[in-house]
Amino acid sequence: MGQFLRLVLQFLRCRMSHRKICIFLLLISLLFIFVLINKNHYHSSDLVPFEYSEKTTKLRTLKESVVQSNATIRNIIETPFSLQPTTTLPKAFASTKAPRQTNQVQGRVLLMYDFISTHTAKGLKVILDSLRVPVDTYKYRLEQTISLTEEKDTASRPIGKYSLLIFADHISFFHKWTPKVRDRFTNYSRQFNVTTIFIPQDGRDLKDRHYHHLFSYKGHSSLPLTPTTVDQVHISTKLNLHYSKNNLLLPKSLIAKSGVWHTFPTLASAEIQNHIFKLVNRTNCTGPHPRNHRCNLPSQLDHLINRTQFSASNFEEMCTWIYTDSQGSINKSPCILNEQVTEGGPQIFFIGTPINFWLTKILLMDLLRLFSRTRVLRFDRKRSILIDIDDIFVAPEGLKMNKNDVQALVQTQEKLRSFVPGLTFNLGFCGAYYKRGTPAEVEGSHELVRRSNNFQWFGHIFNHLQPHLLPLANLTTLMTQSKQFAQNTSIAVGHGYSVSPHHSGVYPVYPPLYETWGRIWNITMTTTEEYPNIYPEHLRRGFIHRGIMVLPRQTCRLFTHTISYETFPGGKEAFHEAGNGGTVFNTLLFNPISIFMTHVTNYATDRLALQLFSDLFQFTRTWTNLELTTDRPLNLGKRYFDIFPEDKTPIWGSPCGDKRHIDIYPPSKNCSRLPSLLILGPQKTGTTALYTFLKEHPLISANKNNKDHYEEVQFFSNETLYNYGVEWYMEQFPVPHNNQVIFEKSATYFTHPLAPKRVKALLPNIKLVVILLDPVNRAYSWYQHMQAHNSPVALKYTFSEVIGSNSASNITDRGLLSLRQHCLSPGQYQRHLNLWLDHFLPEQLLLIDGETLAIKPSIVMETVQEFLNLEMLDYNEILKWNSGKGFYCVNNHCLGPSKGRKYPDIAVGDLKFLEQYYRVDNVKLAQLLRRHVKTPIPDWLTTQLSAIRS
Ligand code: A3P
Repeated sequence: MGQFLRLVLQFLRCRMSHRKICIFLLLISLLFIFVLINKNHYHSSDLVPFEYSEKTTKLRTLKESVVQSNATIRNIIETPFSLQPTTTLPKAFASTKAPRQTNQVQGRVLLMYDFISTHTAKGLKVILDSLRVPVDTYKYRLEQTISLTEEKDTASRPIGKYSLLIFADHISFFHKWTPKVRDRFTNYSRQFNVTTIFIPQDGRDLKDRHYHHLFSYKGHSSLPLTPTTVDQVHISTKLNLHYSKNNLLLPKSLIAKSGVWHTFPTLASAEIQNHIFKLVNRTNCTGPHPRNHRCNLPSQLDHLINRTQFSASNFEEMCTWIYTDSQGSINKSPCILNEQVTEGGPQIFFIGTPINFWLTKILLMDLLRLFSRTRVLRFDRKRSILIDIDDIFVAPEGLKMNKNDVQALVQTQEKLRSFVPGLTFNLGFCGAYYKRGTPAEVEGSHELVRRSNNFQWFGHIFNHLQPHLLPLANLTTLMTQSKQFAQNTSIAVGHGYSVSPHHSGVYPVYPPLYETWGRIWNITMTTTEEYPNIYPEHLRRGFIHRGIMVLPRQTCRLFTHTISYETFPGGKEAFHEAGNGGTVFNTLLFNPISIFMTHVTNYATDRLALQLFSDLFQFTRTWTNLELTTDRPLNLGKRYFDIFPEDKTPIWGSPCGDKRHIDIYPPSKNCSRLPSLLILGPQKTGTTALYTFLKEHPLISANKNNKDHYEEVQFFSNETLYNYGVEWYMEQFPVPHNNQVIFEKSATYFTHPLAPKRVKALLPNIKLVVILLDPVNRAYSWYQHMQAHNSPVALKYTFSEVIGSNSASNITDRGLLSLRQHCLSPGQYQRHLNLWLDHFLPEQLLLIDGETLAIKPSIVMETVQEFLNLEMLDYNEILKWNSGKGFYCVNNHCLGPSKGRKYPDIAVGDLKFLEQYYRVDNVKLAQLLRRHVKTPIPDWLTTQLSAIRS
């Protein structure tokens, strides 16, 4: 503006001869100002609002009718549609400039959904969890609460929280959000160069299996389940494929090019069409009969992905297409659209559904792999496989392998090795059942042993009993007997692997099994389905216990009772679906290491397992670039824990929380030896007093004292103790009488970052008590405690130095920093409480005022008894004031000299410093107590709050 005024004045002062030049200059200036104003205006404006055109609305209506009627779909397909730009992309997406700077982002994914119950949202969550992708899920209506950035990096730039944004049910993003909110997310995408994936809400009325049929076996007239059919893939040709002239399932206006929303051509390009036809009809398969191809194809999928997804520079067709299957059902097929908005900048993808179709999953995985700003997928193309055939001699008569079955096993193994080099079946035996059965089966057992070098072997105990039922001595005898059998029959054991019948003793852990496995067989690796629970399957995990790696075992839909093709649960189609893109394929896709358990019964009679794995490997090779491998069990275990090191330490669950676990838990043990109350701490708040008083109640029983931590167990906060396992923890408690409440107090639990999760896993219904003392007094008490224990650091530094009230901030003395941490951190009550409240309901938590406990303990004891629903004991009768001690004591028995020490009052300077230090925490604590935990505010906190106010 100043410039403008100066020019006007200059103009007025101009002589007539200079007027023309002055007018010219003035016009230039006005133009300059105009541009400036408009530029600012452009930057501050909201996004151009997204609107559906009339045509798009028509489309939506059409889409609904598509799902309803086959006849309608044909009309829609035949209706021509014109190209019309309709609306524009949100500004940040639409930009053609590459982002100026690439800010740091964390390796998490944001998943937004409307209803988690929809196929898309649920399916996406399962996929991301299966792949162990760190994900935060939010409902769309919580968009305001999502923080997209976190603290700053060293150059003071914000760090982005997400490497990838996924919007399940993208309509919500475009319809329900205001431009301003959309702008927040699109700007984030641009600022942090983060790719966005939109996925439409899945058709709830479509059956998943239709999709699998497209690619699986069809029309077997007789059992195909012999090794000769291993490399055949029969493709359904009954598929009646139609292309949609328009994209009916995604609003076509979502397709952006160079920053402008516009419709796409009425038909997919000839190239794409051609390609998809090829893909489905498999014209490049060779075979005697066009309807019964014999295919050994290179990966067609790779081709598809390259074509449609990643050579995206001029790809603007929407690839959702519609087909009717042989039953006349209308389905939609997955597709993917990449709109490369900026060269090297954030990408946008639209993926077609259904999300639980294997092709969609693969496409999604590739997006995660290729377009996440930081790595969220921890493994790449390599898939390691081990196939166990258990109970090789155990099956009932009539269901064991005969000589032909054994030969088929060897031959098929050879064929499968062309897919998985070196694949060797892993046979589990019990010597006691050797050569039992019909004469043909005896011959079969003999043949197995004769050909034993073709396989790997692992031994159970001699007679197939469940280890958890046997005491250590019996286990030792039977395992030794089994080893002897292997030696006598020259079975090649010794690769350090075994499994247990029904997972008995593996999880829940039965220590004698681990001990004998280690001692007799030198076992280093085993598997189970039971950790943490059998379901949901995708959350099964591994762990290491007593030096033995326990890997999750995968289900392959074949169990001991899965014997015949005709009676396969769900029918023949379900059987073929499993390997052809169905559940077993999923397992392979999502797990870097798949250890499949099968049984001898799956290799005799109809030999279902041979067919299943043939299907699986053939399918995988045909449609994916996955590299199938196998390895020694020890190496598989190592690879697993290299990829997932966080799994090494188990999170112990309750052995009595699941019927399956109870069934394989020693009957002599029971969960009544687990506590129902924990006093969490923090230290120096009066925890010993509360512990001691509670033990006076006849219906309450505490843990036994131990030599290291006296009355404290510290199981959940001490790595060594936690690794001992649940058995050890139970042994810390007496067997309760008369429904006594068992409890323990370990004041280290309150601040331990893993304790809430660990406690929740083992004791989900536990009641928790926390004592809150003025954090200033608590910090000072801790310092006094350390001095009394002759801590060199506490003796060397004054309290002021320890808390940092009078020292420089650049301290390097680690001991001092650690002591400072122990003095100050536990008093940040709300921070720790929030961690506990992430895992437990407020009703499970009782907060006690430490001052009331010291001066009116009987009131506190009444509250605790109410909390535990216990018959009331009048503590006024038991607790007596002891003026010498200066505290209440149980009759005349006061706590030891380390509790209730005498020391000088805290210095005023330190007091003020600490009050200031805890200011913010105390305000937050008060809010937490009022809003969430609904606990009266302790007096000391009220005093602190009024001091802050005044
Ligand atoms: P001080 O020794 O600093 O006074 P904890 O048992 O959690 O370590 O807490 C010890 C604190 O409990 C003592 O700290 C003391 O203030 C407090 N306390 C409360 N009631 C007590 C009691 N009846 N006897 C002894 N100490 C008690």
